Amino acid sequence: MVPFSAAALFVTLRVLLLSVSTSPVEAVPMTSNVTTHSKVASTSSSYWVANIQRQGTVAFGDASYKVFRNVQDYGATGDGTTDDTAAINSAITDGNRCGLGCDSSTVTPAIVYFPPGTYLVSAPIIQSYYSQFIGDAVTIPTIKASASFTGIAVIDSDPYTKGANWYTNQNNFYRQVRNFVIDITSMPATTGACIHWQVAQATSLQNIVFEMVQGGTDNHQEGIFMDNGSGGFYSDLVFNGGNYGMFVGNQQFTTRNLTFNNCNTAVYMNWNWVWNLKSITVNNVSFPVLPFSSYSNSCGREADSRASARGWRKYVKHPNQPDRGLRPSPRQQVRRNAKRYHHSLQHDWQYSDHRQHARH
Ligand SMILES: *[C@@H]1O[C@H](CO)[C@@H](O)[C@H](O)[C@H]1NC(C)=O
Ligand SMILES: *[C@@H]1O[C@H](CO)[C@@H](O)[C@H](O)[C@H]1NC(C)=O
Ligand SMILES: *[C@@H]1O[C@H](CO)[C@@H](O)[C@H](O)[C@H]1NC(C)=O
Ligand SMILES: *[C@@H]1O[C@H](CO)[C@@H](O)[C@H](O)[C@H]1NC(C)=O
Repeated sequence: MVPFSAAALFVTLRVLLLSVSTSPVEAVPMTSNVTTHSKVASTSSSYWVANIQRQGTVAFGDASYKVFRNVQDYGATGDGTTDDTAAINSAITDGNRCGLGCDSSTVTPAIVYFPPGTYLVSAPIIQSYYSQFIGDAVTIPTIKASASFTGIAVIDSDPYTKGANWYTNQNNFYRQVRNFVIDITSMPATTGACIHWQVAQATSLQNIVFEMVQGGTDNHQEGIFMDNGSGGFYSDLVFNGGNYGMFVGNQQFTTRNLTFNNCNTAVYMNWNWVWNLKSITVNNVSFPVLPFSSYSNSCGREADSRASARGWRKYVKHPNQPDRGLRPSPRQQVRRNAKRYHHSLQHDWQYSDHRQHARH
């Protein structure tokens, strides 16, 4: 544990306050003739993020660079029938953002705001480095995959190009997604994921509903697909349907208030180095958490061979993972996974739902 005290917190706060008051940035709002960015948003929602005056400029670089973008200012309609993919992606990439070949940057941040509406997409919305996607908090927007959607997930935080990721997974910082419904129910049950979230610190998913096809043995849909990364946070997520509510592997991860309804498996924990699950609600789900518990489903069978400690030692290669890329040998991976597994059991797991999670 990192030693921590109220005194240390006080000192930290004081330092922060002092640095704010001596900062050259204006702390007091100036009167300004800068207009809000969207006609649509200001009339359709009372949410402050949509309507507040944007009067600052980016800290580094071109003063005309826009931090705040409303997707409707870039042509997204939110009407549920027009394909809004290109418009949304142009709202994200405007201003020479950190994309393919960049790896990381702190000088081109973006808040991408989605007014109320249903945004139909046919390919991934790519979340460039240092982007926040904020849906209207008063009337939550839906991002809906079309029946012919192609790509790894509706929102992709780390695209693969020729088998390599755009960003280094442990260095994929400053991403937030909040206040959305992501709906892949129009896609065939055999395919589709809502979010590919391969991220590290300063990242969060909050207040999101994942709508997936419910039930079926050929159901391969997933709310979150996460191969790896280094830290992050989830809160207030609801997963409806799908084969896996979430298929995840990461380290130093904190998750709370997750609800799984009618998923085949709630959580497929592919691997972890420290993962806290707190306040998990599981309704009508065959397998709550794999492979951590040897859990029996309502028929009394053992849930799955992967639910046993022995099965856990198999690192599962997800079909969405590229074939290229560094992978430990199966033998190394067996050793690593065994270590991770014991480490998790000894120190790091927190269970709030005693009915559902049996420990070995
Ligand atoms: C207000 O608008 C005028 C004319 O477009 C411009 O010259 C001026 O810089 C603006 N002021 C602010 C504070 O943005
Ligand atoms: C339970 O979940 C399955 C899908 O896995 C769904 O078909 C069924 O309707 C659900 N039952 C209830 C009572 O919601
Ligand atoms: C948990 O998440 C749900 C759905 O987002 C939300 O309605 C509820 O207020 C949250 N509860 C707590 C205790 O945070
Ligand atoms: C993370 O996952 C990607 C995609 O599956 C893979 O290419 C990469 O090698 C993985 N990185 C680590 C450190 O395991």
